[in-house]
Amino acid sequence: MNTIITGLQWGDEGKGKIVDYLTESADVVIRGQGGNNAGHTVIAKGVKYVLHLLPSGILWDDKLNVIGNGVVLDPVGLVQEITRIEGQGICITPDKLVISDRAHVVLPFHKELDAAREAALGDQKIGTTKRGIGPAYADKINRCGLRMADLADRGFTTARIAARVAEANEILSRYNLTTFTAEEVIAEVYSAYERLRPHVSNTIPVLHQAWKAGKNLLFEGAQGTLLDIDFGTYPFVTSSNTTAGGSCTGTGLPPTAIQSVIGVCKAYTTRVGSGPFPTGDEGLSAYLHGLGREFGATTGRPRGCGWLDTVLLRFACMVNGVTGLAVTNLDGLDAYDTLRICTGYDIDGTVHDLPPADRSAWDRAKPVYETLPGWQTDTTSCTRYDQLPEQAKAYLRRLGELCGALIAFVGVGPDRTQTLVASQDE
Ligand code: GDP
Ligand code: IMO
Ligand code: MG
Repeated sequence: MNTIITGLQWGDEGKGKIVDYLTESADVVIRGQGGNNAGHTVIAKGVKYVLHLLPSGILWDDKLNVIGNGVVLDPVGLVQEITRIEGQGICITPDKLVISDRAHVVLPFHKELDAAREAALGDQKIGTTKRGIGPAYADKINRCGLRMADLADRGFTTARIAARVAEANEILSRYNLTTFTAEEVIAEVYSAYERLRPHVSNTIPVLHQAWKAGKNLLFEGAQGTLLDIDFGTYPFVTSSNTTAGGSCTGTGLPPTAIQSVIGVCKAYTTRVGSGPFPTGDEGLSAYLHGLGREFGATTGRPRGCGWLDTVLLRFACMVNGVTGLAVTNLDGLDAYDTLRICTGYDIDGTVHDLPPADRSAWDRAKPVYETLPGWQTDTTSCTRYDQLPEQAKAYLRRLGELCGALIAFVGVGPDRTQTLVASQDE
């Protein structure tokens, strides 16, 4: 069974935790898009791991992990991450981690260009992670990017970097930002490349062989549907297709290889960075931040928090073809006596059950809520779905109904073991 794990909100839904949980019955875990803008937290056997580029399957022995062609890869960032995770006792060998030779390289000036663009946007800024993701994908689409395979050809790479550095410096000097010399960029990239080189290969036959041999493939999405370059709250989005289709284009495995799509969402909604957030709620944000929750894994920024938004989820289930939902962080709502679920957006007096495209409509969208009773019971020690309080099961049932999808898993805590398999007759 080959399964895509995809985020249904604005990222940080708990994809890493669900991927880690499902890796036990998988053989290969594959990232197909995004870069180290992602921050996936996994807590296993009491140890916390934060992964940015490494697939979450890396924490298990004897599983193959693949960074696919659709990823933009910061070599320096990846080497730092490998060193940090190895320091936590995880071994990362070329047998265990394979990197696509078609993946595009994030260069140091991409990060600086990201910062320059944000500064120029002023209060319209996207609130990016400043990891150079947008500029690296722009170079890929502009056909002036550098791929991992190119690094094997030092002459080509040197010429390409020299040309790109000259262009980047023109922009950076306009904003009084750090400029670069081609030599320093080349030196930095090659020092990291030496560590990565044994992992780089043509991942497409590797993945096809695994598929044909009947191995279980797990695709780890990064970001979430509302950050997708096509389906998200444009322009407040990331620069890749974060939705299920991105797992095919980003890996070279075709849609016919996929049997299921698990959509991950929180039992409420969060968003980090700028852009519309109709159900955002200061009270809920203050409450969750007070519990020490909802701070970004990549930038440490506090995430805005809000009520469950089923307008987003309904749309996300459609465009991803979700076959099962994983609802995480149910325990975040344990203490509340009354819960709100957004069922539609009132835009100029008409209620919509799908999100709009145009950005001014987003700004005018007022959530239409229904309320449900809370359970005011600690769920974190539940080990089976049928142990959940009745009100929690009713909340989940309503969530599933409003999204038109079945609930497959429920998270009641950050640990690997705090994942419940949902029972449909409850
Ligand atoms: P990802 O980017 O989708 O992998 O999500 P992040 O790791 O950025 O953010 C999810 C946060 O919620 C992390 O701190 C996880 O440890 C935590 N988490 C995931 N599932 C649960 C859950 O069911 N309950 C609780 N309390 N925390 C969870
Ligand atoms: P994971 O995989 C949450 C957001 C940024 C910003 C926008 C664009 O952990 O769910 P970018 O740096 O990609 O150009 O920023 O996207 N963003 C994320 N938000 N989780 C993520 O990844 C994100 N990756 C990018 O905050 O709003
Ligand atoms: Mg995250």
